[in-house]
Amino acid sequence: MPLIAPSLLAANFLQLQSECEMINASEADWFHIDIMDGVFVPNISFGAMVTKFITSASKKYNDVHLMIEKPEHFVEIFRDAGANNVTVHIEACTHLHKNIEQIKQLGMHAGVAINPHTPVSLLKDILADVDLICVMSVNPGFGGQSFIPHTLKKISQLRALIDEQNLTTKIEVDGGVTLKNAASIIAAGADVLVAGNTVFKAVNSTEIIKQLKAL
Ligand code: DX5
Ligand code: ZN
Repeated sequence: MPLIAPSLLAANFLQLQSECEMINASEADWFHIDIMDGVFVPNISFGAMVTKFITSASKKYNDVHLMIEKPEHFVEIFRDAGANNVTVHIEACTHLHKNIEQIKQLGMHAGVAINPHTPVSLLKDILADVDLICVMSVNPGFGGQSFIPHTLKKISQLRALIDEQNLTTKIEVDGGVTLKNAASIIAAGADVLVAGNTVFKAVNSTEIIKQLKAL
């Protein structure tokens, strides 16, 4: 049974409280909170202030995805804003191991995200140190994009690497997840499904979450 992490990026921000309450009351497991700086990705989302409002309404695990340059400057700020997990991008971190240590020393789980062009093999020597790998199945920056099919192969490769080392590192898949492709994503080895538009643009979001959870 996958963990389901609705991405608040697709929520109605004028109704943020009721959107959070909907997730609380649903079978979803995590809140997925997307932070974009307009530099690492060509879009700006929101920052720590809005994140704090979201986490104060959240009764679930808060998964913060930093799509930003120099994440080390913001890790503590997002911890204080209520993050339980902080994920940084391998492409934004020259000293990735140091970034991971910083996140863990601040008492959070640590994740590493990889863009669609980044090979899974680059993760080999960091896997044992992280709680989560976020496999981007779209180019980060926007919700509502289509799932890039070759990601499925990357998920299976990563599953094999994790199992070879007997690790418990979770595989999260982020971008373009739908009710149609979710079963194949899980079959390839994913543990956590992020879903933005599929959940929030649905007529009945709670029902969609239930259906994803049942896969
Ligand atoms: C993309 C973000 C995703 C996004 C997913 O840059 O990291 O989390 O919100 O949205 P959907 O599910 O609509 O592709
Ligand atoms: Zn994300």
